[in-house]
Amino acid sequence: MDDTEDTLLTQAGADIAAAADVVQLEALRVALLGRKGRITERLKALGGLAPEERRSAGQRINQLKVEVTQRLETRRTELATQGLNARLLRERIDTTLPARGQPVGGLHPITRTIQRIESIFRILGFESVQGPEIEDDWHNFQALNIPESHPAREMQDTFYLLNGAQLLRTHTSPVQIRTMQERKPPIRIICPGRVYRVDFDRTHSPMFHQVEGLYVAENVSLAELKYDIQQFLSMFFERDIKALFRPSYFPFVEPGADVHIRWNDPTKGERWLEVLGCGIVHPNVLKAVGIDSERYTGYAFGMGVERLAMLRYGVDDLRLFFDNDLRFLEQFA
Ligand code: FA5
Ligand code: MG
Repeated sequence: MDDTEDTLLTQAGADIAAAADVVQLEALRVALLGRKGRITERLKALGGLAPEERRSAGQRINQLKVEVTQRLETRRTELATQGLNARLLRERIDTTLPARGQPVGGLHPITRTIQRIESIFRILGFESVQGPEIEDDWHNFQALNIPESHPAREMQDTFYLLNGAQLLRTHTSPVQIRTMQERKPPIRIICPGRVYRVDFDRTHSPMFHQVEGLYVAENVSLAELKYDIQQFLSMFFERDIKALFRPSYFPFVEPGADVHIRWNDPTKGERWLEVLGCGIVHPNVLKAVGIDSERYTGYAFGMGVERLAMLRYGVDDLRLFFDNDLRFLEQFA
């Protein structure tokens, strides 16, 4: 390379090194090696040289071209790496920053209440079992000593499925039937679950939860039923509970009772609130499932979970449990 090529290379090298981005670099490439670039012009000018000069000049210019091309390439790679690094830095996620507070969920108050009921009855020796929410007439009514056209069916306004053969269970009592069909006494179970009725006001909801209880063995008595219920209520509310057993009619028990508890209604003052129904299993029910009613007796109860939750948490409208307003639910978390 003679002086001119050296000067050109020095100048080009400095320009290339100073190119701040790929656009500037490309402009330089065009100015040097493009169709009318300085180096290209020189190559074109070779034709006008004397043959002996042309050979050595050609070599020098080609060398210059190779050198410049290489520097352009090196700078291009540098700029690309710099760009990538800058982008990585810009988009970097600082994993050491504390996370924005994710609210921690909690169990729904009804779920908590069911779990509480289950754990108390577990202590009292009851196993928890489940049954279907879609039932047939036999399990929901007939086997429970409620024959067709029995007026007691109107005590529980029923949602029927369109096929007419099935219904949404109106209580958890059909699970007693299913369990007694499967097992031999002694049986000591509770059955929590959803039930459905055409019913809607401050203390009634079309879907609500019950926990059924059933104890079948030899010599099960009303005294035992009263004791166990009283025991459960005191454990549930963690204080002595004034429970009122009031005679009541359910076709599937004899005798039967409703249990009421003192409740402070914000508008109507101190009142009795019915929380469960119970009684001694009717012999017809035992017969329907093939249990010897001479040898075995049993007690049964069915409690309203929402009612118990209202009392425990001081909630005065049962419908609040199903609005799922987070401001309400968060108070139980
Ligand atoms: C029954 O459903 C009986 N199967 C209970 C039973 C079982 C009695 C075994 C004897 C032996 P009742 O319809 O009263 O009974 O309902 C039981 C409880 O469910 C009531 O005490 C009440 O706490 C609750 N309950 C009834 N209807 C509603 C409703 N629409 N919304 C919320 N809770 C209700
Ligand atoms: Mg009732």
